[in-house]
Amino acid sequence: MHKLAIEGGSPIQGEVAVSGAKNAALPLLAAALLSDEPLTLSNVPRLVDVDTMLGLLAQMGVAIERDGDSVTLDASTIDNPLAPYERVKTMRAAILVLGPLVARAGEAKVSLPGGCAIGARPVDQHIKGLTAMGAEVSVQHGYILATAPKGRDGGRRLSGARLFTDMVTVTGTENLMMAAALAQGETVIENAAREPEVADLAECLNRMGARISGAGSDEIRIQGVARLHGARHRIMPDRIETGTYLCAAAATGGKIRLSGALAASLEAVLDKLAESGCKIAVDGESISLEAPTKLRSVSLRTSPYPAFPTDMQAQFMAVNAVAEGTAVIRETVFENRFMHAVELSRLGADIKIDGNTAVVKGVARLEGATVMATDLRASASLVIAGLAAAGETVIERIYHLDRGYEQLEQKLLALGARVRRLK
Ligand code: UD1
Repeated sequence: MHKLAIEGGSPIQGEVAVSGAKNAALPLLAAALLSDEPLTLSNVPRLVDVDTMLGLLAQMGVAIERDGDSVTLDASTIDNPLAPYERVKTMRAAILVLGPLVARAGEAKVSLPGGCAIGARPVDQHIKGLTAMGAEVSVQHGYILATAPKGRDGGRRLSGARLFTDMVTVTGTENLMMAAALAQGETVIENAAREPEVADLAECLNRMGARISGAGSDEIRIQGVARLHGARHRIMPDRIETGTYLCAAAATGGKIRLSGALAASLEAVLDKLAESGCKIAVDGESISLEAPTKLRSVSLRTSPYPAFPTDMQAQFMAVNAVAEGTAVIRETVFENRFMHAVELSRLGADIKIDGNTAVVKGVARLEGATVMATDLRASASLVIAGLAAAGETVIERIYHLDRGYEQLEQKLLALGARVRRLK
């Protein structure tokens, strides 16, 4: 199992390019299932999660061609509408094939994701929405079995419906929007997730001939069409990767410029970094950050977009660990997303957890130690803390990082960090 060794204690400095967004790439790859014509995506990040999704699609009969950062997917035949447990257990986002499969193939068998390190994360809202669209859904032996109703012509097709999700769910909104694209009639999704990745998916679906409006707001309207055609789409920049590097510069007292970024997608994050005393400048597609001599701690509360993202909570805990003052961090999206706190404490951070609240008292310095990565963003917070800490930090189980950060070591090395992968 790979480990990452970081010799910390010096500022990171320089320029790196932001990769395509993991959380946009995964639903966009699944969207290829909706058409019998090829979908070409560019700016596809090289990540383990992307490989997992491609493997899953290939197993269903989708032909895949990769060329640099582009992937062409041809789903003209879907001969096996199945997402087996082995794939779904390693990546919850595999649930994103459910909506497209029922809509296009008329049936799907997708493993229930089960729990994961950061919480129970059920998929009841995905199921509730598909049921409202006329699908017959049952859960048997750990699998969701879904079938679209038979129309007069004998073909299976979902019907448009008014959908209301009990809570804001990102992949739930994406699944239902993809299903509705091929349904008969109009679907309205209320309480929809407003995340930029939902809007990116809608943009691509519209290029494929879908009729979707309102994506990016909390009410999405979809006029179903009989078929979707091929298209080309460039995946949006990864706002969480962007935020992670900005936090690394902030925590180490560094100076960084990120190119190919989309500042408008991370206003809540930029706002908090400015509050901590960082100087931030946005120039077109580039974001620059210069850390202050004395970083101030910032309190925050995670919520669905456009509020502060849960996927940046762990990184800000690392920043607060070395800032001046005391920060209160409230996690409202997931019930168990503070596992990084104990690992950060191993580096000398002063963190107290009470339910969904963490109180972080900044310390003058962190010291390197061996720590364990528990999930993707928790791992990112350990990298940030390791870069800020004096001496060597060894992060174990870094396969989590490979799921979501393209070329992490190369990018850190380009920023002057002293990192090594231990195999
Ligand atoms: C997506 C992101 C993930 C991010 C999260 C929240 C992808 C691939 N992943 O995950 O990085 O952390 O949004 O911004 O885009 N819930 C239910 N029932 C459901 C669906 C969700 O109870 O049917 C709950 C979840 O347990 C959680 C909350 O709703 O507490 C939000 O989850 P959701 O937005 O669905 O997260 P994901 O889409 O899985």
